[in-house]
Amino acid sequence: MYLWSKLSGAQWIDAWEERFAGNANFVLEYIKGGKSVRLQVYCGTKKEADAIFGQFGGSVRKVKDAEWKKAPEPPKPLKVRDAFLVTAETNAKKLAALRKEHGKRELIVIPPEMAFGTGDHATTSTCLRFLVDISREREAGKWSVADLGTGSGLLAIAAAKLGAKEVWGCDFDPFAVAVAKRNTERNHTPDITIKEQDVLKWKPRKKGYNVVAANLFSTVLIEAWPVIAKSLAKGGDLVVSGILATQAWEVFEAAAKEGLGFSKIVKKGKWVSARGGWFEDLARVAAD
Ligand SMILES: C[S@@+](CC[C@H](N)C(=O)[O-])C[C@H]1O[C@@H](n2cnc3c(N)ncnc32)[C@H](O)[C@@H]1O
Repeated sequence: MYLWSKLSGAQWIDAWEERFAGNANFVLEYIKGGKSVRLQVYCGTKKEADAIFGQFGGSVRKVKDAEWKKAPEPPKPLKVRDAFLVTAETNAKKLAALRKEHGKRELIVIPPEMAFGTGDHATTSTCLRFLVDISREREAGKWSVADLGTGSGLLAIAAAKLGAKEVWGCDFDPFAVAVAKRNTERNHTPDITIKEQDVLKWKPRKKGYNVVAANLFSTVLIEAWPVIAKSLAKGGDLVVSGILATQAWEVFEAAAKEGLGFSKIVKKGKWVSARGGWFEDLARVAAD
């Protein structure tokens, strides 16, 4: 067990929390009368700790057994409608017990690693609920999905399990890509394609995707709307999140310039998620 740690000014807390959201081994501790914070991430391997060090600096040290015992508990499993139970558990016996306890729900296993998306973040859980709802309005095996900024791959995995035919996910962080690929194997959804790709430089295929999920931060979404619009097929469903409530208006206004609108908006804490699509489709559904 290795521990990465770094001191930071308390004004950067939001950015650090966003970067490590979903990582159950991330610990943030206030020091110096609240003006500074100590950031720590417990890592299973030195390579993992060194990767964080390589990105953010700080320091890495080996953790003694006694300290390790104090490491934080993994997050509680997340129930998504009656469809899924997302868990960080990997122990076969404990997984069997969870399966028995939650018979109806399908298990998705996402161990806490250095990629965003274990389900315990409001943005991920709301996107998952939107995906379940969308799947129930679509015919199994007849819809394709693009998951932009896939992180741990959780949304892509959920889409594949919900009956999507073709699932394509990307992230510009090579570490996230490796984690997402591992998770697709782990969850028996090997047909998902995961690519290292910057959304802002992406050239989507001509026919687009029936469902586009983009849990990206506000600034990225604003820049990415033209490419997201190119990737969304006619009649397509759009699921977006990662939008700070204070920036929501700006994000939706920029989407409108590309002809995209939202029919369902959910705010959880400071985060806004939304479900929508092309204006013409939303208007038709409203008129039906
Ligand atoms: C908020 S996380 C969402 C992860 C996951 N989709 C979920 O819903 O939990 C955003 C992810 O997008 C990735 N990302 C941010 N900007 C990107 C860009 N321009 N191109 C590709 N990926 C990006 C980050 O590396 C991160 O993994």
